[in-house]
Parts: sequence; C-alpha cells; structure tokens
Amino acid sequence: EQKRKIIVAIDGPAASGKSTTARKVSGMLGYTYIDTGAMFRCVTLKAAREGLLEKVHREPVVIEPLLSSLTIEFDRDRVFLDGSDVTDAIRDNGVSREVSFISSLKPVRDRLKEMQRRMGDERGVVMDGRDIGTVVFPDAELKIFLVADPAERARRRYAELESKHGAEGLPSPDELEQEIIQRDRDDRGRTHAPLRKHEDAVELDTSALSIEEQVDMVYRLAMERISA
Ligand code: DC
Repeated sequence: EQKRKIIVAIDGPAASGKSTTARKVSGMLGYTYIDTGAMFRCVTLKAAREGLLEKVHREPVVIEPLLSSLTIEFDRDRVFLDGSDVTDAIRDNGVSREVSFISSLKPVRDRLKEMQRRMGDERGVVMDGRDIGTVVFPDAELKIFLVADPAERARRRYAELESKHGAEGLPSPDELEQEIIQRDRDDRGRTHAPLRKHEDAVELDTSALSIEEQVDMVYRLAMERISA
C-alpha cells in the first residue's frame, strides 16, 4: 500500500537548526530536501557574478532580467546554479552579507516561490526557510517553527565554522550573536514575506535539545500526519 505523501515546512530564524533537522528528517522519510535559503543565495551569487550587486541597491529592477534565465537544481547535497555546482560558493561571506537584501525584493521572492511550488507539487518534500508555512505552502500538512536563543545559535554557528575552517580568523561568538540578532531583525522586519510563525505551526524551542531529539520530534509529528 502506497503511503500518502505530505509536505513538511520548517521555518525559523538563522542558525536555529532548520537545515540539519530538515536534511535528517527528509532522509528518514525518503523525501526530497529543499533548502530555500540556498536558492536565495544562488540569486545573490548570480547578481554578484554579473556585477550587479551595487547597482541593484540603487535600482532594484536590474534584478529582473537575471530572474528569467535562472535555473536552480538540487542533487543530493549539491546545489547547481545555471548548471554549475555552487554548493561552496553560495556560503561565501560576500553572499551571506548581501542575501538579506536580495531576498527582500518582491520579484525575487515571486520567482523563487513559483520554483518552490513546482518542486513540491508532488508532495514528499521537506522544505526549510522563512516563509514556507506562511506563504509558499500554507497548506503543508506539517508546519514547524524552530526557535532557539541567540546565544545558543551563536555557539552552534561558531562550532560549525570552527569544525570547517579552524579557529583562526573566526568572528567571536559575541560578534556572531550580534550578526544573528541583526539578521533576525531584517528577516522579521521586511515588507514581503517576513519571518513569522503560522498559527498552525508547531513551535519547537531547540535551545536545550540535541540534534537527535529535535529530529526525533519532527519525524514523529510527520509520521502522525502521514497516517492521519
Ligand atoms: O537559511 P539561510 O541563512 O541560508 O538563508 C539565507 C537568507 O535567505 C536569509 O537571510 C533569509 C533569506 N531567506 C528568505 O528570505 N526566505 C526563505 N524561504 C529562505 C531564506
């Protein structure tokens, strides 16, 4: 018997554990994982590569032609922009600094929303971001809103960066915490699709949870919805 497929929408602020949780839960369910933050990063990288970043601040319409030729694909853990692998390039500091601005632009959000809806049209996806439960799939069978206190998120981000690059030249946990607080403010304060919890979303505070615990909680909720 074929099990019914659902959409799991996971939203929350920066470094709240969304992508780790979403990736693991998608593996357990046999679903596709879609990291929508990576898609906004792809648009930002494309704008940077075309030398448009400065101009787009003054004249946001210059982003529009770039959106019509844009393709983004996910293949297991890799992300492809217009056919080439940009998995590492989209994590650059330059991209991270500009992505909040690029993701505040309405044409960017509209184009990516259309792509995201197409990626989820057969259901069987776990999608994480800021507006998945509120805007992209308000009919998602399971909506999760992850939160954690900023100091804890800064600690996790620091540990993640340290394990990848070593401690040398890293911003301090305090600096990371300030960046996280600023990014939350930007994401919550923007006009189009601001970060907020959908009234039906299950809020999980992960400050005191281990990865296994939070994965287990989301997985159980998903199994409940699948058999509902
Ligand atoms: O999750 P992340 O840090 O990779 O996301 C990068 C940026 O993209 C983040 O500042 C907010 C934006 N974003 C968004 O506006 N909507 C989404 N669904 C996902 C990300």
